[in-house]
Amino acid sequence: MKKISIATIVLSIFSHCLYLGANNYNPETDIYRKVDSLMSLMTLDEKIGQTIMYSGDWNNTGPYVNSDNMRFLKEGNLGSMLNVYTSKGTRELQKIAVEETRLGIPLLFGYDVIHGFKTIFPINLGIASGWDLEDVEEVARISADEASAAGVHWTFAPMIDIARDPRWGRVSEGSGEDVYLTSEIAKAYVKGFQGNSLTNENTILACAKHFVGYGAAQAGRDYHTVSMGDNELRNVYMPPFKAAIDSGVETFMTAFNELNGVPATANKYIFKDILRDEWGFNGFVVTDYTAINELVNHGYAENEKHATELAINSGIDMDMMSGAYRRFLKELIIEGKVEETLINEACRKILIAKFKLGLFDDPYKYCNEQREEETIYRPKFLEFARKIASKSSVLLKNIDKTLPINNKLTVALIGPLAKDKKNIIGSWAAAGDRNGKAISIYQGIKEYLDDSNIMFARGCDIESNDYSGFDKAINIAKKADKIIMVLGEDYNMSGEAASRTNIKLPGIQTQLIKTIRDELPNKQIILVLMNGRPLDLTIEDSLADAILEVWYPGTSGGLGVADILFGKYNPSAKLPITFPRNLGQVPIYYNQKNTGRPISKENPTEDYKSNYIDSPNTPLYPFGHGLSYTTFKYSEIKLSNDKLKESEILKASSTITNTGDYDGHEVVQLYIRDKVGSITRPIKELKGFKKIFLKKGESKTVVFEISSEDLKFYNNKKLILESGEFEIAISPSSDFEFNKLFNLILN
Ligand code: NOJ
Repeated sequence: MKKISIATIVLSIFSHCLYLGANNYNPETDIYRKVDSLMSLMTLDEKIGQTIMYSGDWNNTGPYVNSDNMRFLKEGNLGSMLNVYTSKGTRELQKIAVEETRLGIPLLFGYDVIHGFKTIFPINLGIASGWDLEDVEEVARISADEASAAGVHWTFAPMIDIARDPRWGRVSEGSGEDVYLTSEIAKAYVKGFQGNSLTNENTILACAKHFVGYGAAQAGRDYHTVSMGDNELRNVYMPPFKAAIDSGVETFMTAFNELNGVPATANKYIFKDILRDEWGFNGFVVTDYTAINELVNHGYAENEKHATELAINSGIDMDMMSGAYRRFLKELIIEGKVEETLINEACRKILIAKFKLGLFDDPYKYCNEQREEETIYRPKFLEFARKIASKSSVLLKNIDKTLPINNKLTVALIGPLAKDKKNIIGSWAAAGDRNGKAISIYQGIKEYLDDSNIMFARGCDIESNDYSGFDKAINIAKKADKIIMVLGEDYNMSGEAASRTNIKLPGIQTQLIKTIRDELPNKQIILVLMNGRPLDLTIEDSLADAILEVWYPGTSGGLGVADILFGKYNPSAKLPITFPRNLGQVPIYYNQKNTGRPISKENPTEDYKSNYIDSPNTPLYPFGHGLSYTTFKYSEIKLSNDKLKESEILKASSTITNTGDYDGHEVVQLYIRDKVGSITRPIKELKGFKKIFLKKGESKTVVFEISSEDLKFYNNKKLILESGEFEIAISPSSDFEFNKLFNLILN
C-alpha cells in the first residue's frame, strides 16, 4: 500500500499544537481537528493498534511477556511502548513507527519515573516526609527533564494510593496514609511532570495510579482483594485522584485489585460513572501490566476474550502488555459485543496526547543525544537531590543531644548499609545506577570527618545468620566516642510484590545493636535507618539514643544524611505515615474513628474499652511526628470567630517561637474534627499545613483560612456539608488533644 505522509496530509493544514489540560476538551481547537482528520485515514486495525502497549524489554517491571512487539510495530499496529529509554534507543524505534509504517504515527514511550530518572531522589514516602510542595514539584520537574532527554514521553506516576498497612511493599511508592497530604502532593507531582506546556521538550505526561483502592489490599498482601464501603472509598481513597485531575493530569492507570467484587480494570462504576461522568476526565486510561488477562484469574471473566470485552466496555483505553485488545477487539466489534465508537474514542484520546506532546510536529524531539548528555546527572540536580535527602530524613528520637555530632569526635560506623551504594536509591529507581554512582553514608560522613576519626565494620548482612562480624563491630565501637549504625531493609523488600508479614528489621540486625548496647551501656548509639515502610522499632527505640529515618535517600543520599548528622542541616521532616509499636496494631493511622467505647488518656487499659490487653493503642511514632535540633513553642490557637457561615472564611492562628539553639524549619499542622455527622467522622483530620523557617528566638504567626469547602464529606455518593460543632487544633504532630471549638452555621 502506498505510504501516506501524515506530515503533508494533516500537519500542513494546521499550525502547531495547543496545550490543553485533559479536561479542557474543545472540539473547535486545532488539535482535535487534526486528530479527526488523521483518524479518517485510519483502518480499524490501526486504531486498535493505538490502544496497545508493549514492553521494549530494556528492563522488566512485570512478568515476561513474549509479545512479538517488533512485528506489530512494523505493521503500524503498535501505539505505545514501555520500558524503553535513551535518546538513541527511542529514536531507532520511533524511526520504524514514523518512517516504515503506512501512516507514520509516532510511538508514545512510557516509563516508571517514580522518584527520579537517573538522578534518584529519596523514595516517595521520603519525599512526602518533607511536607514541602515546592520540593515535590521540583523533584518531578527534574525527573521529567532527565526522562524526556532520554526519550521518555510519559511517566507512570504519581502513585497516589493511600496506604495504611506497612506490610504492603508499595507504601514506599506513595505519600503515606493521609488524604489531604497525599492530595496536595499529587497536585505538585502532576504540575512538575507536565509543566506549563506539554509541547516543551522537557515535560512529560503524568499518570494518576492506581485507580482505585489498591493500597487497601487485604492483609497488606500485594494485588489482594479490596472491600470497602462507598463512603470510605470517596472520603479516603479517591480524593487524591480528583486532586490530580484538578491539576490537569493527562492519564490514569487502573489498579490490579478487585473492588467489592469487581476488578478495577473492568469496573464501570469507578471508570465510567465516577471518573468520566462525575469528574469529567477526558484523558486516556491505561491498564496496569497484564491486568486485562488477570480478569480471568480474578474469576470475573470467562476467558481473555471476555476480559477484553469487559475492559473496553468499562472505558479502559489502552492495554498494557495483555495483548488482549490486539487479539480480540476486532472480533468483538464484528460480533457486535463492542461498539466501534469505543475504539474510536480510545484512539482519539491517545492521539490527542501524542499531539499535545508535539510528537506530530517532531517525533524525534525527545531523541536528542546532546541534550541527554547535558541533562542526565546535571550537577545542580545532584545538589538538589542532596538537599531533598536532608529534607526527607525524619529524626524520630534524639535524647541528650546525641545529634548533631561534633566533627572532632571519633565515630564507629557499623552496619550492612553504611557503605551501600546499591540499596540507597531504593526500589522503583527507574534508570538509576546501582553500580557505584550513588554516594554512600560512609562517603557522606567522610566529608565531615578525617580518616583517623572514622572506623568501619559491617557487623552483619541485611539478611543472614552470620554473626562473625560482631566482634569487629564491638571492637571499633569500644574505641569510638559515638556509634553510628546504618541498618534497614534490602531495597527489594519494598515496592511491588514485596509485602512482608514481619515488619521488624530483617536478619540479625537487631541482635547487632543489642549486643553493642549490652557491651557499651553508656555510649551514645545513633541509628540511621534505610527502609521502605514503617517498621516495628520498639526494641531499637529502647536501645538507641538517636534514630534518624532516612528511607532510601537516593543518589546523593550519603551527603544529605551526613549534613544532618553533623548539623549542617537541622532536620525538619515529619512522618507521613504512622509507625506502629507492633504488627498486631496494623492497620493503625491517626485519623481513625472513635468507636462506642473509646479509651481515655488517663485510664487507657480500662476494661470493656476499645483497647488491647497486650499493647497500648498508641503508635510508637505518630503521623506528623519528627524532631528538630531546636525546639518550637506553639501559642494557644486563636480563631477569628467562633462561628463559620457557609460563605465565610474562618481564620485560625498560632504563634510559633523557636525556643532552642538552632535555626530551623517547622511543619505547622492544622487538624479539625467534625464532632457529629450523619455518618461518623474521624477523630482528627489534617486540613492544612505550612512549613516555616525560624531563626533562634524568632516567632512567627501562622494563619490558616478555613472555608466550608474544607468541612465537606461524602455520604451516600453526595458531597455534603453539615452544620454543627467542629474541634480545631494547630499542632506539631497528630499527637495532641483538641481544646478549641467553632460552629458551622448553614444559611
Ligand atoms: C506494574 C505496576 O503496578 C505499575 O505501577 C507500573 O507502572 C507498571 N507495572 C509498569 O511498569
